[in-house]
Amino acid sequence: MPPKSALGRRELLLAQFGRKVAIETRLDSLLEILAEEVRTILSADRCTVFVVDKRKGELWSKVAHGLERKEIRIPIGKGIAGYVAKSGEPINIKDAYQDMRFSQEQDKATGYKTNNMLVTPLKNRGGEPLGVFQVLNKKKGSFDEQDEGFLQLLSTIAATAIENAQLYESLKNSHLETIYRLAVMAEYRDQEDTAKHLRHISKYSAVVADRYGLPYDQVEDIRYASPLHDIGKVAIPDAILKKAGKLTPEEYEEMKKHPEYGAKVLEGAESGLLKLAYRISIAHHEKFDGTGYPKGLKGENIPLEARIISVVDVFDALTTKRVYKRAWDTEEAGAYIRERSSKDFDPGVVDAFNKSFSVICDLIRQEELAEIAKS
Ligand code: C2E
Ligand code: SIN
Ligand code: SIN
Ligand code: FE
Ligand code: FE
Repeated sequence: MPPKSALGRRELLLAQFGRKVAIETRLDSLLEILAEEVRTILSADRCTVFVVDKRKGELWSKVAHGLERKEIRIPIGKGIAGYVAKSGEPINIKDAYQDMRFSQEQDKATGYKTNNMLVTPLKNRGGEPLGVFQVLNKKKGSFDEQDEGFLQLLSTIAATAIENAQLYESLKNSHLETIYRLAVMAEYRDQEDTAKHLRHISKYSAVVADRYGLPYDQVEDIRYASPLHDIGKVAIPDAILKKAGKLTPEEYEEMKKHPEYGAKVLEGAESGLLKLAYRISIAHHEKFDGTGYPKGLKGENIPLEARIISVVDVFDALTTKRVYKRAWDTEEAGAYIRERSSKDFDPGVVDAFNKSFSVICDLIRQEELAEIAKS
């Protein structure tokens, strides 16, 4: 029998494990949490959670690599983790370098010394392989039967959480893809590079929202809702939308209705993301000093998300060639944004934009390089 206090500690950690794991819906962070919790509970040096990629017949995981997290992949059936995924049977190796099943290849590549390891399968509700827990180097001695039993128990909880996160992500992805394609469709008649403009708005707005200090979930919502900002252009006649030159004052008045057209498409939506898209669409041409359209809202009466989109929308419009204007360079456009701070734009957002400027310029450079590589 193990000492009572050890059991007590594990029971406590188990309860904590259940709580932490149940509330995490993002697969990436869930895997991180699982690895860290299992490492602590089993008093081990390392733990890696592998997930089965059925399509490719591989296991994948992300492991710390300096400050970055790097993806690693192993064919199912290869190596110990690969073997456990295939057989569905746990493997407990007490002395790695004396065990035929262990290959020192990985250790040689990473400079890590594996002394002992416990590898158990994660199975879904139907008993199919979902992944693998690989736990390395118990701090004292090697893994015993109690560790094996305990890891089995943790695996059951972990497998349910991983399945839920996968389901949630696939639902979310199809939802996001639909929204994104809707945005592209709505602007299909506009300038040639509409898809590119929407991609830019999506990326830049997320960077600025992050630098502004918004929490991760809100940043992601902005990333995915922002491409819908001009969806109201769907109701603008071709003769105006596609005009190869400056708009007359009458035409411009018609063009200025696009935020309200967009609001009509999106109003009354149930989904949080579409509600956000509504707030952005209706208010992205409002100006901080109250001189914008359609309502002439002022300052904080303009939703924050719309104040963010307004900055990145003008920045991207300026740095892009249009039939009626040349492309400005990034320095010129950045200077314009700063010059219009407190007039057109929220100074707090301009500040976040300034702090994001080098990241945004890097994104633009990367895209230019990718285009050169393609041609
Ligand atoms: P857009 O091209 O996406 O431009 C978004 C906003 O960027 C504009 O909102 C404006 O605030 C800013 N912007 C764009 N180009 C310039 C520029 O050359 N100089 C300055 N200072 N700011 C610029 P705005 O003015 O409310 O226009 C809304 C939309 O109306 C534009 O979206 C574009 O689709 C259309 N539009 C505006 N002016 C013209 C024009 O002269 N000809 C045509 N064909 N379309 C225009
Ligand atoms: C740790 O791994 O650093 C946590 C200590 C423990 O095993 O309880
Ligand atoms: C999305 O992936 O749906 C957002 C837009 C993009 O960056 O492609
Ligand atoms: Fe617009
Ligand atoms: Fe726009």
